[in-house]
Parts: sequence; C-alpha cells; structure tokens
Amino acid sequence: MPTLFDPLKLGALTVPNRVIMAPLTRARATREYVPTPLMAVYYAQRASAGLITSEAIGISRQGNGFPYAPGLWSAEQVEAWKSITKAVHAERGRIIAQLGHTGRAGHSAVIGEQPVSSSATLAPVDAWTYDGPKPSEMARPLAVVEMPGLVADYVHAARNAISAGFDGVQIHAANGMLLDQFLRNKSNLRTDEYGGSVENRIRLLREVTHAVADAVGADRTSVRLSPNGETWGVDDSDPTPLFTAAAKMLNDIGIAFLELREPAPGDAFGGTDVPRQSPMMRPYFKGPLILNSDYDLVRAQADLDSGLADAISFGRQFLANPDLVQRLQNNAPLNQAQRETFYTQEAQGYTDYPTLAKAVA
Ligand SMILES: Cc1cc2nc3c(=O)[nH]c(=O)nc-3n(C[C@H](O)[C@H](O)[C@H](O)COP(=O)(O)O)c2cc1C
Repeated sequence: MPTLFDPLKLGALTVPNRVIMAPLTRARATREYVPTPLMAVYYAQRASAGLITSEAIGISRQGNGFPYAPGLWSAEQVEAWKSITKAVHAERGRIIAQLGHTGRAGHSAVIGEQPVSSSATLAPVDAWTYDGPKPSEMARPLAVVEMPGLVADYVHAARNAISAGFDGVQIHAANGMLLDQFLRNKSNLRTDEYGGSVENRIRLLREVTHAVADAVGADRTSVRLSPNGETWGVDDSDPTPLFTAAAKMLNDIGIAFLELREPAPGDAFGGTDVPRQSPMMRPYFKGPLILNSDYDLVRAQADLDSGLADAISFGRQFLANPDLVQRLQNNAPLNQAQRETFYTQEAQGYTDYPTLAKAVA
C-alpha cells in the first residue's frame, strides 16, 4: 500500500507525495483582482506539497464575488500570475489554478451587477463586500442562451491559466459556488434542461468540464465537489444518485483527478451528519480520488490503506504550516491556523507561519 509520501500520477503530472494543498481563498490580491508579489512568497513557501491547488480564482468579474480575490480573465492578471507560478517552480513545486464563479454568493457592490445563479434564490448568509458583510441579494437565474458564454468564460480562464504557467486547472464545483448551485436541488429549482432530473443538473458541469478539457487537455483538468452537507444554503435532498452520476460523467471525460471535500460530524469547519459520499462514488470514478476535510496523519494513511483515497488534501494545516509534508513525515507538532487573519490583506498570518526549523531556532 502506498504511503502519503509516495509519488502519484495525476493525469499529466507525477507528484512526489500525496499531501496535497487544498484551495484556500486568502484575499491578498488587489481591488482590481490582480495577484500581488506577496502571494508568490506564500505559494513558494508551500512548494513541497505534492501539488498546490491555488485559491479560488474568478473566471470573470461576474464570478469574482470575494473581495480581494484574484482573477484570471485579463492580460494584467495573467502577467501577475506568471511570477507566482515561476516562484513555485523555482522551488521545484507544482501548482494548478482553481477556477471559480461565486454565483449567488457574490454581491453587486463587488461584482458590479446582480449576482447570477441557477434560480432566483437568496443565499441564507450575508455576502462579503469591501465594506464588510451585507445582506445577500436575490439572484438572477441564468438564461439558457447565456450558457455558452459562461462556458466560454471558464475556457478563457483555463487557457489563461496555462499561459500563466499553471500546471493544470481545477474546476470549482464545490462549496456552494455557481456550479454547485446548479448541481444541488435546494438551490436549483429550474424546470428547463438545466434543472429537475439528475442528468439535467449535472449538465452545466459536464459542458464546462468538456470544454475546459478540450481546451487544455483532460489530463490537466480536475474537478472539486462537496457532495455531503450544506454550504451557504446549497444542499441536496438525495446526494447519492446525484454525485454518483457526476462521478461517472467526470470519469467518462477522463479528467486527471477528482477531489471531494467531505466534512464529518463535528468537523471544525462546517461539520455535517450527511454521510460521506466517497464510498458510493469511488466505484464510478476510476481515476485518482483526493479526499479532504479535517484529516490528520492517521486518518489520512487509513483512507489510503483502505483504497478509498489516492491522496489527501489539507487546507488549514497547509495554511499554517508551509512545511506540512516534512512535519507529517516526522510526526512533528503543527502550527495552529489563526482565523482572524484568514482574509486580511497583510503578510501577517499569511507568510509568517514558521517552518519547523525556524520555530526550533
Ligand atoms: C481560509 C479558507 C479559505 C478557503 N477557500 C477555499 C477556496 O477558495 N476554494 C475551495 O474549494 N475551498 C476553500 N476552502 C475549503 C478548504 O479547501 C478545505 O476544504 C477546508 O478547509 C477543509 O479542509 P481542512 O480540514 O484540511 O482545512 C477554504 C477554507 C478556508 C479555511
């Protein structure tokens, strides 16, 4: 059985270990959605990860609802990302771009228009703006004629990611973002070909994944899903048929890997009593499966040993431990992530978490 510290083939990439950095929004870009030099320092510090998944990057202004989140739709953004991918590669790391669209989680104060979604629904949580939290706005349902344009935005951002030096892309279809708003029936109330049946609700994800895979290669395309439990009001009454169908569809496209965020009861970051769907999805997705949420070394190795997962992604532990791989390998103590600085704009709580060597010194 492989250990967490054995290499793994993920499509076009062979990664040196199975300790993957999960995507983490950190709000360190400019107000114009341009990545900053500080971000190059942060990502390069974490280059010993088997693979770094970037924070969610907006595919368009319409889809970039988080204040100070970076984008990948303009030439200026592509240029700025080049310094970051170069810094990671200089440290012999690998980094893929998570392509996101916030959908109804965005606010007009940030995205400059009424937020869009699958249906006219209201996220039951406040939206983030540059002036703090504001009540969510009623979403405008995307018209069927708008779908090709939306798919084209994903493709444009995916091509830009490769031009910027990323080693691949991850389509963000998890955590209550736009594609998740289409997948799950608490937010998708449509009666056209993008709503209702499971086949219809996975249609947009299929179209986006197909188009992105055609543009940059299926072997450089991955997808993230969050099949169990609610995020920002996005949930499903019967997740197993939906997510096994999605797993089969993604398997047929031949993506490089699938990542699942699966909180467990009591999970420190959004726990849920809805069972993990990975055991049911695993038979339908034959490629590499990466699992996430609240893992420690023992649980991670156990899920590799049982064959449920091929690799594990770590969010908050990577946020707080730039040398997480080395620390896990040596069973060393971990720095704790400080919530207060998750989304602040400074270096503090971002690039100043010490490595073990520094902490000891
Ligand atoms: C500060 C912060 C930002 C996050 N941003 C993203 C994101 O941009 N995209 C995403 O898919 N998940 C995001 N997540 C979820 C993480 O990728 C991960 O699923 C979650 O932290 C649970 O994993 P962990 O227990 O290893 O931290 C974020 C989590 C945190 C704590």
